[in-house]
Amino acid sequence: MELIRKTQKIGDDIVICNCNEIYKSEIVKAINEKGLITVEEVGEVTSAGTVCGQCQDDIQEILDKLNK
Ligand code: FES
Repeated sequence: MELIRKTQKIGDDIVICNCNEIYKSEIVKAINEKGLITVEEVGEVTSAGTVCGQCQDDIQEILDKLNK
């Protein structure tokens, strides 16, 4: 729940990774364009999840939704 409280709503887009200010739209775009499957790959491409790691569950959730 902590993570959800911390995310900022900006229009329809939200910040998933607060450390690197990575928006959900950037993560979704990277996954779709490059066919990413793991949280690590998303980190390599967007840098999301590479600092404190707290947003990695949210990234995993996005991956699960897009890659099911
Ligand atoms: S919030 Fe994403 S690495 Fe810290």
